[in-house]
Amino acid sequence: MADKKLFENLPEPQPDALLALIGLCRADPRPTKIDVGVGVYRDAAGATPILRSVKAAEKILIETQDTKTYLGSDGDTRFVELIKQVAFGDALAGDPTLVGVQTPGGCGALRLGAELLKSAGATRIFLGQPTWPNHAPLLGVARLETVDYPYYDTAKRTVRFDEMMKALEGARAGDVVLLHGCCHNPTGADLSLDQWDRLSRFVADRGLIPFIDLAYQGLGNGLDEDAAGTRMMVERVDQALVAQSCDKNFGLYRERTGALFVKAPSEAVAKAVYGNLLSLARTNWSMPPDHGAAIVRIILDTPDLRADWKAELTEMLARIRGLRARLAAADPRLAYIDEQNGMFSMLPLSPEQVLELRKEEGFYMAGSGRFNVAGLSDENVDRFAKAVAAKLPA
Ligand code: LMR
Repeated sequence: MADKKLFENLPEPQPDALLALIGLCRADPRPTKIDVGVGVYRDAAGATPILRSVKAAEKILIETQDTKTYLGSDGDTRFVELIKQVAFGDALAGDPTLVGVQTPGGCGALRLGAELLKSAGATRIFLGQPTWPNHAPLLGVARLETVDYPYYDTAKRTVRFDEMMKALEGARAGDVVLLHGCCHNPTGADLSLDQWDRLSRFVADRGLIPFIDLAYQGLGNGLDEDAAGTRMMVERVDQALVAQSCDKNFGLYRERTGALFVKAPSEAVAKAVYGNLLSLARTNWSMPPDHGAAIVRIILDTPDLRADWKAELTEMLARIRGLRARLAAADPRLAYIDEQNGMFSMLPLSPEQVLELRKEEGFYMAGSGRFNVAGLSDENVDRFAKAVAAKLPA
């Protein structure tokens, strides 16, 4: 060790496989390539344009913003108030035991939540399998013991609800359970409302702590529909965390706009939670980036912009649902895709077949077989379905 320079002790870096796909696809000169890797929405022409409502809000912001002075570690508090209503609906919007702070995207919210759990002395977290590959590393900061629970049946293409509930029988009061609010990433397979009902009663009875990742609200079946399970859970339990993201439903990706909400058993505890969130944010990023949250605030505070954003979101949702229906109609073995929600579904392909499709067809999808439905266009969806179907067992 003594003869080594400090940085030579660093571990071999593990590049993020999803983000690496962006570069690989960009470097492919084939005009027929299809980027179905990282989760960004693309319109029928294959572009990810800035939403009209976002552009309009940016113009207002440029004209009216008169200072760049610091906000607090809680960020834009009006943004938090408005997005709380979008995420939780009117019934919970005014609940003083549900407190929130602005975060740098959903990742920032997950990280802040993990730090809060660590500070509070949580010891175990139950993670569904599969889940978004960045969940475990992001939550790893809490140094919690991780227990996997089965979530998705790859052969049947459905949620393994009974097995999931059985695995959660092993959870003790105070254990944390990570859940996806909607548009499950990577599988697209969501819990039904009946399943949310059973799960939320169980979680409440056992004193478990749900940590819900709500990153795709509005892109599954609608704003209220996609939040229904999360709302039911938060109403029933007295402790919960919700990581909210505006990356996808406002198309703000690189602006890193989100919020962490925490439900506490009483107003007094909620105040203490809020204070802790501010301290933890201060030592991580001091205060979150402002631009995206200011845009969302202006949109939600301006009735015609709010209406236009909703119309744009409905258009995105309809496009995704339309693509899902076309894939399902292309081959009976792809029929399940229409039952699933949001940007992603999994194809039952081996990592080798995923690589073959990349080489032969220029399809860029995750090694797990996860593909971004919204990355397809009206022109290439049938070619995609045909080439994928050719790889599937008869
Ligand atoms: C994805 O899973 O593709 C998105 O959540 C983007 C990301 O940060 O990985």
